[in-house]
Amino acid sequence: MKAVGSYKALAVDEAEAFLDVEVDKPQATGRNILVEVKAISVNPVDTKVRKRPHPDETLRILGWDAAGVVTAIGDDVSMFEVGDEVYYAGCITKPGSNSEYQLVDERIAAKKPTSLGFAESAALPLTTITAWEAIFERLGVSKGGKDAGKSILMIGGAGGVGSIAIQLARKLANLNIIATASRKESADWCKARGADHVINHYEDIPAQLDALGLPMVDYVLCLTNIAGYWKTITDVIKPQGKICTIVDFFEDGNLDLLKPKSATFAFEFMFTRSMHQTDDMDEINELLSETAAMIDDGELVTTVGDVSGPINAENIRKVHASIEEGRAIGKYVLEGW
Ligand SMILES: NC(=O)c1ccc[n+]([C@@H]2O[C@H](COP(=O)([O-])OP(=O)(O)OC[C@H]3O[C@@H](n4cnc5c(N)ncnc54)[C@H](OP(=O)(O)O)[C@@H]3O)[C@@H](O)[C@H]2O)c1
Repeated sequence: MKAVGSYKALAVDEAEAFLDVEVDKPQATGRNILVEVKAISVNPVDTKVRKRPHPDETLRILGWDAAGVVTAIGDDVSMFEVGDEVYYAGCITKPGSNSEYQLVDERIAAKKPTSLGFAESAALPLTTITAWEAIFERLGVSKGGKDAGKSILMIGGAGGVGSIAIQLARKLANLNIIATASRKESADWCKARGADHVINHYEDIPAQLDALGLPMVDYVLCLTNIAGYWKTITDVIKPQGKICTIVDFFEDGNLDLLKPKSATFAFEFMFTRSMHQTDDMDEINELLSETAAMIDDGELVTTVGDVSGPINAENIRKVHASIEEGRAIGKYVLEGW
């Protein structure tokens, strides 16, 4: 089968950073389904893993977002049948979706939205899992509307995660959403997805919140390197408020700043359940299934920003380069081989 991989950790412009290769098609066993990959999307995690050294210089296949068709199932699979159209992010410790066929544990896959094609579906899984877990599990926001009207500051609103996080916070919790964006097109994108207010992350955030009459917020969801925003976040979080970040500090963050406000801090890492094979791994199937139903009911929209042609080394390289610029609006998707 075709795949795109590399044997070394390389910069995006190095010739061998992305190679079109032929590898053996895997066999479905246990709870794995074998998926014929029809479309993928690329996330910042792909660019980060690409730059990590391979200890043994074996072939590494990146990619953690796909939509495709189930072509075989392991003996213990009970949730899917051959022919089902699925979408999933997969597991960071397993070969990725930049390959014609991929094995994925059934508990972390779901049937894709029937109203979307493969490309539009592939844009969603990784970021949806992240946003859902961050908002409803780490921040503990109620899905039933109990927290309606509470305020959430989302730093980095127009990226892949922000694009679905805004929609989930709007549709399932009716929060008062203040998203950040630094350009007119990224600000417009946040508003179109349901943000109540958009402020600029490169300008004085407390002053902009003051101007909105919201000097402090109930929740902060940080979708970019938190270190640069840590002091601001601790200033604007309400007493007993909750903060979640999906990105590392990259330098020391002083958690003591939270003590006077008894504020809660949580990390979200969407691969936790799959890489640790937690008992509740099938929550991922459930949240992706719920999301697919909401899309089919017209309550959520796909987050595709750009469909960048067929899946091959050259096109994946171009998308990595764009993501590394840090100015993505929505998701980059590739479709077909
Ligand atoms: N922990 C997890 O499970 C998890 C899951 C998914 C992603 N992540 C990480 O979360 C981050 C965001 O992912 P993503 O897919 O949303 O990324 P993305 O799509 O590449 O994000 C692009 C957006 O980031 C905004 N941005 C760039 N620099 C910024 C800054 N200094 N401050 C605030 N916003 C800034 C840009 O907004 P403007 O153009 O408007 O400036 C742009 O719209 C990445 O680091 C990714 O690796 C973690």
